[in-house]
Amino acid sequence: MCGIVGYIGEQQAFPILIKGLHRLEYRGYDSAGVSLINSKGELSVYKAKGKVVNLEEGTKDKDTTGTIGIAHTRWATHGEPNATNAHPHFSQSKNLSLVHNGIIENYKSLRAEMEKNGMTFCSETDTEVLVQLVEYMMNTHKCDLYTAVQLALKNVVGAYAIAILEKSHPDQLVCARKGSPLIIGVGKSDNGRAEFYVGSDATPIIEYTNQVIYLQDEEIAIMDRTGRLDITNLANVKQTPQLVTLQMNLDQLEKGGFPHFMLKEIWEQPNALRTCIRGRVNMVDKDVLLSGIIDHKDKFINCRRIIICACGTSWHSALIGKYFIEEAAKIPVEVEYASEFRYRNPVINPDDIVIAVSQSGETADTLAAIQLAKEKGAFLYGICNVIGSSIPRATDSGTYLHVGPEIGVASTKAFTGQVITLGLLGLAIAKVKKTLSDDIFHMLVEELEQIPDKMQWTLEHNKDIAQFAQMFTYCKNFIYLGRGYNYPVALEGALKLKEISYIHAEGYPAAEMKHGPIALIDEEMPVVVIAPKRGMYEKVVSNIQEIKSRKGKIISVVTEGDTVVRGMSDYSFVIPDTRDCFVPLLAVIPLQLLSYYVAIAKGRNVDQPRNLAKSVTVE
Ligand code: AGP
Ligand code: GLU
Repeated sequence: MCGIVGYIGEQQAFPILIKGLHRLEYRGYDSAGVSLINSKGELSVYKAKGKVVNLEEGTKDKDTTGTIGIAHTRWATHGEPNATNAHPHFSQSKNLSLVHNGIIENYKSLRAEMEKNGMTFCSETDTEVLVQLVEYMMNTHKCDLYTAVQLALKNVVGAYAIAILEKSHPDQLVCARKGSPLIIGVGKSDNGRAEFYVGSDATPIIEYTNQVIYLQDEEIAIMDRTGRLDITNLANVKQTPQLVTLQMNLDQLEKGGFPHFMLKEIWEQPNALRTCIRGRVNMVDKDVLLSGIIDHKDKFINCRRIIICACGTSWHSALIGKYFIEEAAKIPVEVEYASEFRYRNPVINPDDIVIAVSQSGETADTLAAIQLAKEKGAFLYGICNVIGSSIPRATDSGTYLHVGPEIGVASTKAFTGQVITLGLLGLAIAKVKKTLSDDIFHMLVEELEQIPDKMQWTLEHNKDIAQFAQMFTYCKNFIYLGRGYNYPVALEGALKLKEISYIHAEGYPAAEMKHGPIALIDEEMPVVVIAPKRGMYEKVVSNIQEIKSRKGKIISVVTEGDTVVRGMSDYSFVIPDTRDCFVPLLAVIPLQLLSYYVAIAKGRNVDQPRNLAKSVTVE
């Protein structure tokens, strides 16, 4: 999910690669590395944990000459963030070096197979398996690099964007992609000779050329200094490269053409959730595979109570997780604000399981809460996005979100990633406890698989929120209402609006209005009501009537085709029908968009709202 840079041409590669890595820093990463072939034909690899400047510092006294190279900023998915696991990775013979974005799902079985054949590995990553497999193919099939890459990728399950160097062929650069973007920049050096740039997006390329080729899934490219650029698919069928002229500037490129990271990350959610689910849902057997649960099956079978500790948006996803785990796995779940839990001297029983939900994995209150739970003997489970962060290192087991770096301070794709991961957790526990019938289990797995497409539908069918939001910039207050699974969505929608537009907003269970908040209703008060044709639809309709009779403005989230609530609303957002437990994954999207466009209309800094930090590492 992070950053690749490559170069082959007449210029010294190192400065181009380092500058390219700096261009990619905005994507968030934990380590960096570079590989070069110098004029003596020596293949080098230099890597450093942390920032690109650490890599520059570590290579000051090294030979960084050469007119061909590849480089990488890593966002770890498999293997701690450290210099050993950083890319590029050598093959065993050190004749090959490779960088990779993505996840190789079947890396464990591939590695076991190669270890059986006497191959040794030096990192914990899935990526090292790839470069070793290419070398294995070269050795066993006595073939060239390009053919070996084709053979290797046919055996790989997962997502990849790769660039690879071969020591004995310093005049060629090979790259390939499937499920992770890779772009080839076509340039010309001052003397008119060809040069090629490779990037996981165009930011490392744009200052050298605006002529680019977007490699397509399952395509492999080989390029050299004569200007040769051959592209084939995995079946070795030649592909015709489509040259595109880039129109975007650097700032636009960093945000993928979106004006802000937050909007980019809202639209990334369908693909982010596909990556989150990838390798964890087996659609053939309609099964859920969470190693964090399988490795500790007895803990979950004997568990009498689950406590989820979290803060902010993560606390909202935890509430949704509570509803689902109780319904699917029949285990009582308590959701605690970590900041309260840590000072309350809570009662923890030996068969309790405490789950920490945290995008950053560094939230001080959440970390302190689980350290307290550990002291009291609980089994700790982490659900985080940042690999190797403090919370995953403090827990006994866990599941990473794999939604990629979240740059916007307001959490969007991490929230939906947390919700779907808690859903997977509920299903995995239900499976080991046998608390769901096979029919219901399979139906839930099938519907879960549909969610990314339904999220895409929701994004595409609510584009007019942008101009609608202008009407609400004057508002001083909003109320958000939901029932059941959608009460936490009401809380999340209110938090999104608060934290980026600075308009006060509160979320309530819809039925709570009559216990006080309804006194707030007048023609100035917009009320957002999540009213899917599921759950307690009729009850929500009554709540809307109560509000309308007091002249409240109704903004509703309705199921496609609904006419009743739509007819009662001043404005409606539509979502496709889905099971009650999955509605939050769709209903939250219009609320994210509403908060974004209201904040933009008010001229707010949506990516870095005032007073907020992406990770609250202080009390
Ligand atoms: C959500 O939009 C906020 N940025 C904030 O509430 C955040 O969810 C909270 O600080 C928890 O962060 P964490 O998930 O990294 O622990
Ligand atoms: N899965 C690989 C790793 O963990 C690549 C991660 C990335 O995309 O940066 O090293």
